[in-house]
Amino acid sequence: MTGNDLTGKKVVIIGGTAGIGLAAAQAAAAAGAQVWVAGRSQEHIDNAKALANGAFEVRQADTHNEQELEAIFKEVGTIDHLVSAAVGGERTLKPFLEQTEDQFKAAFDKLWGYGKVVRTGAPYLASDGAITIVSGSPARKVAIGQSPLSCVGAAVENMSRCLAVEMAPIRVNVVSPGTVNTAMFDFMGEQKQANLSAMTANHLIKRAGTSEEVAAGILFVMQNKFVTGTTVDVDGGRLLS
Ligand SMILES: NC(=O)c1ccc[n+]([C@@H]2O[C@H](COP(=O)([O-])OP(=O)(O)OC[C@H]3O[C@@H](n4cnc5c(N)ncnc54)[C@H](OP(=O)(O)O)[C@@H]3O)[C@@H](O)[C@H]2O)c1
Repeated sequence: MTGNDLTGKKVVIIGGTAGIGLAAAQAAAAAGAQVWVAGRSQEHIDNAKALANGAFEVRQADTHNEQELEAIFKEVGTIDHLVSAAVGGERTLKPFLEQTEDQFKAAFDKLWGYGKVVRTGAPYLASDGAITIVSGSPARKVAIGQSPLSCVGAAVENMSRCLAVEMAPIRVNVVSPGTVNTAMFDFMGEQKQANLSAMTANHLIKRAGTSEEVAAGILFVMQNKFVTGTTVDVDGGRLLS
């Protein structure tokens, strides 16, 4: 028995107004949970509200703003599942030596934001609650120009393992997407589809993943009460390509 039914469970997804977090919200709501999602921009908030159509709550919060996070956590009360799926920092995709120190440091805003989500949310977690943190395949797959992604991803994964040990029996897991077709790549404009195809051409599964496929990984670690301190890769085999 894994207890797949999330009926009556309260789920908060920071970074849940688009992409992977939004798909996880839809999946959790479909599994019976009461769900709150949060993000920064009004555009994503409006889209998420339209998609939710009342099935889950949508709020405004930045991972770097303790007051905004706390307001949501207070509203929820006791949290069964806290998910952090925000991008949370500016990444400069250039070789390490071509970046300024400030550019390199900026990627670590993801780690500081995730840390704030956990620190602020922890007092509200149920005693059998769980934290799920979204990292990414660059944490364990290096590529030229991706040192910021790799370094912050590795830090996020290790922070999660430390938390799993320190916060047990609260469960803490990482879900690590490969290349997934989300708004994260919208900056590519008309080149987005062609670029995603090129980026995944040598992966074992030769396409970008979907948010729904990664959300299924998030639901797995939320629902299986014997899983903690682990990383679930949903990456089309990128790590082996
Ligand atoms: N897509 C991929 O290929 C891929 C690969 C590896 C790892 N990941 C990781 O997976 C996670 C989800 O990415 P995604 O592809 O779903 O991205 P996405 O489609 O851009 O969605 C990111 C979500 O996080 C919110 N967000 C970003 N910064 C935030 C902040 N500081 N505070 C609160 N919310 C914030 C965004 O809304 P606002 O911008 O309006 O705040 C949005 O709701 C990220 O951690 C990303 O690094 C993605």
